[in-house]
Amino acid sequence: MAIRSPIIVVLGHVDAGKTSLLDRIRNTSIINKEAGEMTQHIGATEVSIEVIKNISKTLLNIYKFELKIPSLLFIDTPGHEAFSNLRKRGGSVSDFAIIVVDILEGFQKQTYEAIEICKNLKIPFLIALNKIDRIDGWKPNNEKPFIETIKQQDQKVQAKLDEYVYNIVVKLYEFGFDSDRYDRIKDFRKQVAIIPLSARTGEGIPDLLLLISGLSQRFLEEKLKINVEGSGIGVILERKEEKGIGDVIDIILYDGRIKKGDKIAFLTRNGVKYAKIKSLLKPQNLTDIRFAKNKFNEINEVYAAAGIRIVADNLEDALPGSTIYVFNKDEELKDIENRLKAD
Ligand code: GTP
Ligand code: MG
Repeated sequence: MAIRSPIIVVLGHVDAGKTSLLDRIRNTSIINKEAGEMTQHIGATEVSIEVIKNISKTLLNIYKFELKIPSLLFIDTPGHEAFSNLRKRGGSVSDFAIIVVDILEGFQKQTYEAIEICKNLKIPFLIALNKIDRIDGWKPNNEKPFIETIKQQDQKVQAKLDEYVYNIVVKLYEFGFDSDRYDRIKDFRKQVAIIPLSARTGEGIPDLLLLISGLSQRFLEEKLKINVEGSGIGVILERKEEKGIGDVIDIILYDGRIKKGDKIAFLTRNGVKYAKIKSLLKPQNLTDIRFAKNKFNEINEVYAAAGIRIVADNLEDALPGSTIYVFNKDEELKDIENRLKAD
C-alpha cells in the first residue's frame, strides 16, 4: 500500500482570491491568461512535497514532523454563481477543501454554498482568510509565515485581524462548527482552522501548505492508502477537441493506476461507452493542466492521485463529471457498467 497525494479543492465566492492563491503557490501568472480573470473551468495543479518543504522550511524547523505524502493536488473552481456544478464536481473527488474568504467581505453567498458542499460530501475543510494585506495599517512581510508576520504588526492591527477572525468564528458556529485561528487550535479534529493569509504578499502560505499536508496525512491516512497496482478510477473534469490531436479528456485519477493502451469505460448521454487510450499526457509539475499546452510530458503509466489528459478515439461525447474506470478483462464490464449507471 502506498500513500497517494491528497486532492484539495479550492472553493469560495467570486473574487475571494482562489486562483491568485494557487497562482502565488505556482509562481506563474495564470490569472493573466484567464478571460476577465474569471475561472471558467476546473483546473488541476500538482505541488510536489519538495516545493512545500522549501516554502515552509522555517515552520518545519518549529513543528518538526515528517512529510510522507508525495505531493498535493489542487483543483481550482470558479466562484461565479452559475458554476455550481463545477464546484460540486470538484468537491466530489476531493479529500480536503480550502474555502477562501476575502477578509474584508467576510461570508458571501458562495461561501455558504461551499460549506454546504463540504458538509454534504463530508469533506474536512479549513478557511483561508485571504487579503490580510488590505487591513488598515498592515505591514507586509513577503512570503513570511503568518505566525511571524503577525508579531510584527501594531497592536491595533493585531486586534483588527482578530475581530475579522472572530466574525468568521461566529458564522461557522451558526453551521455547527467550532473554529479558531489555526495557531490557537489544540485539537484539529474538533475545530476548523482559520488561516489568515495574503495571496498578494505570500504571507501565511507556508502555514497553509504545511497545515494541509500535516492534517491530510494524519487524519486521512486510511483514505489515502491505495493499491497502486489496482485498476484506475477517476473522474472526467472536461472534454475538448485539441487541434492536431483530436478529442481529449482531462481527468483526476484518484485510485489505482492507468497505462497507455488501457481500455476505459465512461458515461455519455447515450449510456456507457468505451475507448482505448492512445496516449497519456501529464502536465509538468507546477503547471495547471488548463494552460500546460506544450508543457505536457507523454507518459506510459501514472498512479493516483494525478491530473492527466487522455487522448483516444471515441471520446467525443464523454460526459464531464462521469466516473472513468480502467478495465482490462471483458468480464469486468458488466460490473463497471452497473456502477456507472448507478452514479
Ligand atoms: P473567481 O475565479 O472569479 O471565482 O475569483 P477568484 O476567487 O479566483 O479570485 P482571483 O484570484 O481572480 O482574485 C480576484 C481579485 O482579488 C484580483 O484582482 C486579485 O488581484 C485580488 N486579490 C486576490 N488575492 C489578493 C490578496 O491577497 N490581496 C489583495 N490586495 N488582492 C488580492
Ligand atoms: Mg478564479
